[in-house]
Amino acid sequence: MVDAFGREITYLRISVTDRCNYRCRYCMEEGGVVPYTHADILSFEEIAEIAESAAALGIRKIRLTGGEPLVRRGVVDLCKMLRSIPDLSELTMTTNGSLLAPLAKPLREAGVDRLNISLDTLDPEKFHSMTRGGSLSDVLNGLDAAEAAGFLGTKLNVVLIGGFNDEEIPTFAALTKERVICVRFIELMPIGCAAGWNSKTFLSSEAVKRALPELEFLERDGVSERYRLPGSLGTIGLISPIHAKFCSRCDRIRLTSDGQLKPCLHSAMEYPLRGLHGDALMEALQQAIWAKPKEHHMDTTHSSDTMRRMFEIGG
Ligand code: GTP
Ligand code: 5AD
Ligand code: SF4
Repeated sequence: MVDAFGREITYLRISVTDRCNYRCRYCMEEGGVVPYTHADILSFEEIAEIAESAAALGIRKIRLTGGEPLVRRGVVDLCKMLRSIPDLSELTMTTNGSLLAPLAKPLREAGVDRLNISLDTLDPEKFHSMTRGGSLSDVLNGLDAAEAAGFLGTKLNVVLIGGFNDEEIPTFAALTKERVICVRFIELMPIGCAAGWNSKTFLSSEAVKRALPELEFLERDGVSERYRLPGSLGTIGLISPIHAKFCSRCDRIRLTSDGQLKPCLHSAMEYPLRGLHGDALMEALQQAIWAKPKEHHMDTTHSSDTMRRMFEIGG
């Protein structure tokens, strides 16, 4: 379906839980948060019903997100249910990778096509500190397990944080020399815990180009621009929601784990879908797509308009 600004909406991001086993400093408060209760969150049947209606309206790609999607019990079964929806061309997941090692093969067998793994530092101590307790080796083992399970096109998402990981840009980029992965640098967005952070922490993706002047431009890929280091097997992506706003190319809507359809990550606009079926569900989805805002109004001094935190939306 096309929205009021002529954008074709083909991509649905489904947050399956607001819970996470990490507490990344830019995302969650130290003490954690009071998570939604089991009764608050959509059942797999409810999610599948919404996904089927969305597919009937032209959604071709679904991405499962969280919180951390792999902490939701039975998520592999949900993947199987979603993969059987006719006309779906891609089922993908964004994960912090910490629980991936034992789950990569079952996810692949359930029909998940591709994985994006979040990883902001390659230094074990910095990793432990940023995630408040996480172990870098779990994520690296998860990445290896994804490769061994036959996943292709895996992307590593690195949120650029001034004073934290900007000196690691060449180290992350070097991962693409021998591995067929895409390392993507994402501009930190002022949302949730990061909203009040010092302006020096918000880097432009131009910092990556300055650190890697040899980058060769390849193509645009969704919201990212793809580059390559000469002679590398993998690629490097830049996602620049602030310094090179991509709203005019946006093709996505989001479903929160408590059943709200969000036409835009950064807008407060939400459409409750719970309890709707058949034509009523289709109409609500159509309304939400038609109401999708033209663009976000966020920059390094104005934070996101959404009332939700990132872990309640799924990125
Ligand atoms: P691909 O299917 O591999 O292209 O994945 P993706 O980039 O759509 O999904 P992923 O979850 O890996 O998203 C990477 C990051 O890009 C997210 O965590 C967000 O930080 C950012 N991002 C994704 N979609 C949007 C969006 O619509 N608006 C903004 N501002 N940022 C987004
Ligand atoms: N800015 C940019 N990316 C963020 N993520 C979480 N919070 C932010 C933020 N404030 C990223 C995670 C993960 C994805 C789901 O969202 O690191 O890659
Ligand atoms: Fe969890 Fe992702 Fe938030 Fe980190 S950024 S606390 S891994 S949801």
